[in-house]
Amino acid sequence: MLRVNVDFCFRLCQKFAGIHHYSCKMHCFIKTAAISVRVIFRGHASAMQMMSFNAPFSLFHPPNKAPVHPRGQVICKVFENLCFISQLEGLHKYGPMWKASFGPILTVHVADPALIEQVLRQEGLHPMRSNLSSWKDYRKLRGHHCGLLTSEGEEWQAVRSLLGKHMLRPKAVEAYDKTLNSVVADLISKLRLCKSPQGHITDIASEFYRFGLEGISSVLFESRIGCLDLVVPEETERFISAINTMFVMTLLTMAMPSWLHQLFPKPWRVFCQCWDYMFEFAKVHIDRRMAVEAEKVSRGEKVKGRYLTYFLSQTGLPMKTVYSNVTELLLAGVDTISSTLSWSLYELSRHPEVQASLRQEVLNVLEGRRTPEAADVARMPLLKATVKEVLRLYPVIPANARVITERDIQVGGYLIPKDTLITLCHFATSRDPTVFPNPHEFQPHRWFRKEQAHHPYASVPFGVGKRSCIGRRIAELELYLALSRILLEFDVKPDPKGASVKPMTRTLLVPENVINLQFIER
Ligand code: HEM
Repeated sequence: MLRVNVDFCFRLCQKFAGIHHYSCKMHCFIKTAAISVRVIFRGHASAMQMMSFNAPFSLFHPPNKAPVHPRGQVICKVFENLCFISQLEGLHKYGPMWKASFGPILTVHVADPALIEQVLRQEGLHPMRSNLSSWKDYRKLRGHHCGLLTSEGEEWQAVRSLLGKHMLRPKAVEAYDKTLNSVVADLISKLRLCKSPQGHITDIASEFYRFGLEGISSVLFESRIGCLDLVVPEETERFISAINTMFVMTLLTMAMPSWLHQLFPKPWRVFCQCWDYMFEFAKVHIDRRMAVEAEKVSRGEKVKGRYLTYFLSQTGLPMKTVYSNVTELLLAGVDTISSTLSWSLYELSRHPEVQASLRQEVLNVLEGRRTPEAADVARMPLLKATVKEVLRLYPVIPANARVITERDIQVGGYLIPKDTLITLCHFATSRDPTVFPNPHEFQPHRWFRKEQAHHPYASVPFGVGKRSCIGRRIAELELYLALSRILLEFDVKPDPKGASVKPMTRTLLVPENVINLQFIER
């Protein structure tokens, strides 16, 4: 019954690594089939044959121009399409719960808001996203500590509480608006430099990717790393490239059972090299920043940093924990922002009436000023609804996951044994027509319609609960400041040749093709 999955996995591994031993396939089959799940499934028996790959353990994706070997790209494309299709197809074919496997990973999919709520309400004291991860394996191998994305239990809780004070409290986050505004100002200048005389910019996501990295760096280090300079420093380009390749290799390393890593070492080796560079990059920046502070102290000056690395370094945590957390925050703050900003402008360019109303809202609130601050955003409901709607249509993390380790749980009347990987199909619920009428249409005003109130777990792009996105407030502030400022400076129009762009899953949800836009000076 699980043969389809294994065949598929095997073929992919074969393609990538050139495996030809049929015995590998059998091994894979036996290993997968040996996992037992005591769940009764609704729907057709062939649900068991459903092929699916979800990589909820790795949250982030390579941007469009990942420097990957063409074979790797083909494989990723297959993964992406399967991943994306599987949620909607699974829901359509099998109902709101089904089980599927990919290679060694077996998972129960949940694709209904009320059932997702049931799962999340039963997560324990220290929720776990996944117990399988090549990211964790890498840290163990190199003797690094885990950051917030990868740590578990008490270790996770300790850092979460410390960082939460600076990342989740509204007042603490508002204090970053000046820092972020200076990055937004550089973004506007960069857009002016990039655009053709007719205002065209090709592949807007790649510009926003650099903006994301510069934004999160400014919050982490209170200093700039030059991503928006005309010539981007080589170390920064290498960091960006390492993220890209690491994401692609994440998919490959997860798809292969660990024993295959020894037989076909290249994906794992490249994956480790990418992480090595990312850890090194973060360490260099942290050490540089700490050295500046130490020098001030030695001159008898008072040091009072307002940046996250400073707060972390003052807590008494081991430096290894500081390094790993900063590395993971850098990573977490890049693609998420780039993707959401790209989709926002894509949709606004195709809905000029919404763009005009939004611009008017910003102008009304600013009363002649050109630079919005954090406090202004509170009076911009359409701006907030726009970002909500963009994240409903294009949730950066289309599938999240949980592993409940303490006990078996009941979901929708079925028993899910403890330690089962449960995939939460957020993409499927946020495009479900029974929850959101005209689900594929961009309609920010739907969020104002009280009579159309939807289930609170139907669109949860930042997750819910104790393990939800800790960068949410910073991300929202950054998006609001950037969007409002771009709309003040430019009329954003679609690419005149522009075909529509669809989303696809590359671990995260990304545009299938490059997004080209026109930025007309106002
Ligand atoms: C549009 C922007 C973003 C979206 C949609 C997003 C979404 C998410 C989601 C869905 C999760 C998993 C939550 C869960 O498992 O319940 C997550 C976790 C996380 N995000 Fe974000 N994120 C965004 C931006 C950011 C930014 C800017 C940062 C850093 C400043 C960040 C840092 C993190 C971290 C560290 C975690 C792990 C939290 C933990 O396990 O305790 N995110 N994010």
